[in-house]
Amino acid sequence: MATGPEEASQRGNMARPWLRLELPQEERVQALLAEMTLAEKVGQTHQIHNLDPGSDRELIASGGIGSSLMASGATAGNERDEGVRACAVNAAQRIAVQESRLGIPLLFGRDVIHGHRTVFPIPLGLAATWDEDLVRRAARLAATEASADGVTWTFAPMLDISEEPRWGRVAESLGEAPVLAGRLGAAMVRGFQGEVLGGPGTVAACAKHFVGYGLVGGGRDYETVQVGENTLRNVHLRPFLDAVRAGCATVMAAFTDVDGVPMHAHRRLLRDVLKGEWGFDGVVVADWDGVGQLVAQGVATDLRDAAAQAIAAGVDIDMVSGAYAAHLAELVESGQVPLAVVDDAARRVIRLKIRHGLFEHPYVAASTSAPQPWPQSRLLAREAAAASFVLLTNKGTLPLAPDTGRVLLTGPFAQEGEALLGTWTLDGRGEEVASPASAIQTLLRGEAVIDDGRFSDQTMHLARQADITVALVGEHPSRSGEAHSVADLGLPAGQLEVLRAIAALGKPLVVVVFTGRPLDLGEVLDFADAVLVAWHPGLEAGPALMETLFGERSPGGRLPMTFPRSVGHLPSSSMARPTGRPIDAARDPAAGRYLDALVVPRLPFGSGLTYTTFSYGPLRLSATEMALHGGSIQVSIDVTNSGERPGREVVQLYLRDIVADVTRPLVELADWVSLVLDAGAVGTATFTITPEQLAYYDRTMTRRIDPGEALVTVGPDAAGGSCARITVTD
Ligand code: BGC
Repeated sequence: MATGPEEASQRGNMARPWLRLELPQEERVQALLAEMTLAEKVGQTHQIHNLDPGSDRELIASGGIGSSLMASGATAGNERDEGVRACAVNAAQRIAVQESRLGIPLLFGRDVIHGHRTVFPIPLGLAATWDEDLVRRAARLAATEASADGVTWTFAPMLDISEEPRWGRVAESLGEAPVLAGRLGAAMVRGFQGEVLGGPGTVAACAKHFVGYGLVGGGRDYETVQVGENTLRNVHLRPFLDAVRAGCATVMAAFTDVDGVPMHAHRRLLRDVLKGEWGFDGVVVADWDGVGQLVAQGVATDLRDAAAQAIAAGVDIDMVSGAYAAHLAELVESGQVPLAVVDDAARRVIRLKIRHGLFEHPYVAASTSAPQPWPQSRLLAREAAAASFVLLTNKGTLPLAPDTGRVLLTGPFAQEGEALLGTWTLDGRGEEVASPASAIQTLLRGEAVIDDGRFSDQTMHLARQADITVALVGEHPSRSGEAHSVADLGLPAGQLEVLRAIAALGKPLVVVVFTGRPLDLGEVLDFADAVLVAWHPGLEAGPALMETLFGERSPGGRLPMTFPRSVGHLPSSSMARPTGRPIDAARDPAAGRYLDALVVPRLPFGSGLTYTTFSYGPLRLSATEMALHGGSIQVSIDVTNSGERPGREVVQLYLRDIVADVTRPLVELADWVSLVLDAGAVGTATFTITPEQLAYYDRTMTRRIDPGEALVTVGPDAAGGSCARITVTD
């Protein structure tokens, strides 16, 4: 009887039951694990940087490696050549699949943080959109482009909650509110992983950095962290739980310690809480050399000790330190690490590969054309950029009329492309960015004068001759991101002085601030005629900005982090909890706090203006009592567009549990609704409040909901709104 290729492959699959799609996933995982030697199991826990199909051939063929970081083809030369990375990925994958004993495919990880070739705003900017669907679509496109490039795993979203703008990594974060970060993070996970991980153009997501990294002392990157378990659970762990519930395939451990215990050795949080309590069955990956750094952190004597502690704590993959590859097998053989612990790690990696469909589709499709920012992709990048802009002040100067006479475009970012991509853009190309200077003349019918980018005497000369000056100031992306913290939140040296001098000319001045963090803008907010925060907007920076300045689009973004008054005010966020001596900031903003300054933030969390105005009607409640089990209350409010242009209002719901077992935030974002209203139109924002939204961890770290009173506030930001009291009944 002739045997066709199908039959042969079927026979092959009988010998390799983990390839049989008809079997339940866990049976396939178990079947493969049962075949693996200790060395092969350890191999799955080993990740190196830039795996090379040439020089690493033996390592791959022996099954000694499970994944690669950066997914680039070092031997293939210039990885910017179209398709080169994908070829290198396929070459390495072919060795793993065809030459290793069990044919286990490799994972290729890369930091696809806010886009791949099509670069979106930095995550803090994406958070400012308060738009889950837009964030999901951006992540979906990023995944499609990255996977066409051979990437199967991205190290995003970053869910570190921080009220520390000195910390450069807030640029990568989704803001200070657990509910905002959690919902947008879950949207990113759904975008990266698609409907089902393993579908076309999907990459595994990674919720990072677990956990507490946003609390680094003084905002200095990698610093130690002091935080109690209650705050961890009520604040910092929450967005991670949202990501896990959204099916996030992997989680990355944080570089820092938490109250003395480095996260890469934190058995309680990784193994007991994440994997135990939450039932997370995905992969925990170390951060870069995080296992090795246990030695520098002074809790491990050497790499062997570090490996023993990290694997016991629940770190499944060792990113680049080499500690697992060098020591795990011997640690098991000598009885210091139970085999079951290594089995658990290998099982999770295998499970991810099976879930990802890598055994069926290990290669980058040959037909896939190299990713590019196609026109449709650029449109999405432009939509996201424009939606991220937050208007802080406007004395009626914006939007600019197309026939505004002579417009001076000045400041360090007027002619910039690359610098507007932002931190963590590995694949965006500066030359593909549409700069502000290149975009202005498409909308301005008058004359655009482009300054050379350096503030100088020439700038003052040009400003004197112009009808209006648009100054593009703020931070270069190299001033934010990992290991880029600052001690001063003011504008970079010299910018304030020039802005002040231009303002003194008495002609309209519009200030656009590019930044990776909340800044102390001080008097700029007073003397400028309009101030727009544009973050680092990505590939379509120029057109998105010009369409906004000239009113083709309206700014609709809201601050995802509080803008403090000064460094001296830190921490300054919406997460404040009651003290024994409460202050009434409305009546006496300085009471009991600073003798020399107001205590309220300069710009509250959630705030942002647009080209129209909104007025809020009274709060309506469907009931004032809700049953602890299964109850709910509908809260609604009418919002009128009281201006002359259409616009978007982000109506925010804040809750406060008035008497709880521990101090609870005075206002905490619980939900939000976006209303897009024509001039004069009235819309209704309706929220369903459930007891779940008031749940928190108490003194014994037990999750609970209190019967009793809660305060409901609905308004345009965290600083105020219409309030009502409700009662949760037992
Ligand atoms: C960062 C991570 C990143 C990793 C891999 C580390 O330095 O902390 O966020 O995913 O490098 O590039």
